[in-house]
Amino acid sequence: MSRLAHRTALITGSTSGIGRAIAERFATEGAHVIITGRREELGQEVARKITAAGGQATYLPADLTAGRAAIEAFATRAGDVDILVNNAAYLVGGRPTPDTPEDVVDAALATNIKAPYLLTAALAPRMQARGAGAIVNIGSINALTGMPGSALYSATKAALHALTAAWAAEFGPHGIRVNTIAPGPTDVEWATSIRPHLERIVATVPSRRLSSPSEVAAAAVFLASDEASHIHGATLPVDGGLTTVTAHGQSPSGHQAA
Ligand SMILES: NC(=O)c1ccc[n+]([C@@H]2O[C@H](COP(=O)([O-])OP(=O)(O)OC[C@H]3O[C@@H](n4cnc5c(N)ncnc54)[C@H](OP(=O)(O)O)[C@@H]3O)[C@@H](O)[C@H]2O)c1
Repeated sequence: MSRLAHRTALITGSTSGIGRAIAERFATEGAHVIITGRREELGQEVARKITAAGGQATYLPADLTAGRAAIEAFATRAGDVDILVNNAAYLVGGRPTPDTPEDVVDAALATNIKAPYLLTAALAPRMQARGAGAIVNIGSINALTGMPGSALYSATKAALHALTAAWAAEFGPHGIRVNTIAPGPTDVEWATSIRPHLERIVATVPSRRLSSPSEVAAAAVFLASDEASHIHGATLPVDGGLTTVTAHGQSPSGHQAA
């Protein structure tokens, strides 16, 4: 299919994981994809693989925590971007609040809130000038439900969800749609290191499995494409139903659920 033909899509954090899957999927839908991230070798490899498969891809290296001037220069290099996916994140890991060092707090806020804020500030006016655009923020189910050890990460993701609502209101009247995807635990490269923890979560998921990066990418294609032409400010969970259930198991027979 060619649902994203003649569009340029910038996917932050596309050197690995969900971002890489989104870039690959967008390219098969006809978009020219701009791959970015700090790991140059991986970024070049993603771009090469897409190009070898007949797609269009360019790798532009960037550290998105380098400040406003650097982000504006990066946005200028990216050119006319029709679709922005704010996917890059600092993945804090399970950390009790009192044990979280200040530099980790700063890195999480800088990568997960300040960077998408400044990048959107740089690119949205250009989308607005062309009268069309789509922004997809990659949030998390952690923004929607509490989990011990996840306070900092969850707070940053909740901020991104809040930015979606505010930007939908701010940019929607200018032809730019802004939406969020909230993935549940997803089977990316780093997930192998916490497999036992993920297996405990999976036991409570209606689908009884992790999300795959390509399932998150399929949702991103939909939200970025004209098929979602009247969807603004939405949050789409891709979590096998995890956020709709509790982990308490079945009600005892003969008793009503509380
Ligand atoms: N995996 C899950 O279970 C899950 C669940 C819910 C939500 N999410 C969300 O999905 C998104 C992708 O996560 P993932 O699991 O795919 O992890 P990942 O493979 O580690 O991807 C994170 C990406 O962010 C980039 N990045 C981090 N800091 C950066 C910086 N300062 N400048 C530029 N790029 C930076 C990394 O690129 P470089 O290292 O090359 O810079 C990498 O490509 C995140 O927003 C995450 O919060 C993931």
